[in-house]
Amino acid sequence: MSALDHYAVFGCPIQHSKSPRIHQLFARQTTQTLSYTAQEVTADCFVNAAQAFFAQGGKGLNCTVPLKELAWQWADQLTERASFAKAVNTLAIQADGRILGDNTDGVGLVADLTVNHGIVLTDRRLLILGAGGATRGILNPLLALKPAQLVIANRTIAKAEQLAQEFAGETMINGCGFAALKSQFDVIINATAASLSNELPPLADNLLAANGCCYDLAYSNQATAFVRWGQQQNALQSVDGLGMLVEQAAQAFYVWRGVKPQTAPVIALLNAERHAVT
Ligand code: ATR
Repeated sequence: MSALDHYAVFGCPIQHSKSPRIHQLFARQTTQTLSYTAQEVTADCFVNAAQAFFAQGGKGLNCTVPLKELAWQWADQLTERASFAKAVNTLAIQADGRILGDNTDGVGLVADLTVNHGIVLTDRRLLILGAGGATRGILNPLLALKPAQLVIANRTIAKAEQLAQEFAGETMINGCGFAALKSQFDVIINATAASLSNELPPLADNLLAANGCCYDLAYSNQATAFVRWGQQQNALQSVDGLGMLVEQAAQAFYVWRGVKPQTAPVIALLNAERHAVT
């Protein structure tokens, strides 16, 4: 491998990934010299591909669907937040050659929610839709903001109940199915994979409190089904996860390069580009 530090994102599908563009923008902004590519890697090929990448001198990897849990299993060492999340989106080679697994998704979400969108979670009633890997990855950073109440609703009720039990602590957490949702929430976060196929979990019409906000972890050039649902419910804000994508990338960049890029100009640029497309 050349003297240029090389990074990549692995996942499947990967062709529409915005990560190479985001990291190139970060590199330019912070005057770092590096390359960053996207590589289609299926779950079956992950271990071989990751070993080859680092053996050839690669410095760091991002892992996305469906590889985050495999990356968590494969890393030699884990940060505390990756360990809790049981999912890794950032791998970094250490000076001793060992591979560190980190998870920057939760901190990226919190930065986008609270700093970029000014959405308050402290003392608010929070509903998370979905109980898969994405939810597990964001629970601890969200709980650290001390919501008044957290409900996890999922199609498979047992998975929601299990997560609620596992993360029980200071905040009151309950797990249930969508049909059992009766009360109102100030913030609703969609962490189901439904958005990826432009579907919507079955949600009643009265779940969002007045001046409540909706946040979809997924993002798309067009409004996602959940963002549209939030708009129909008169949400104060109903936004997708483009900002989270940029924020988690900035945290990964920091893990790798020790420099934290500014996210606002990158988010503004990507937003302008997608509005130009639609
Ligand atoms: P991820 O890592 O993206 O969270 P996952 O672990 O497979 O992926 O979890 C996907 C989540 O989306 C689950 O909560 C899943 O519900 P189930 O646990 O019942 O499978 C949810 N999900 C996927 N498609 C959905 C749909 N069409 N409607 C509602 N929930 C859906």
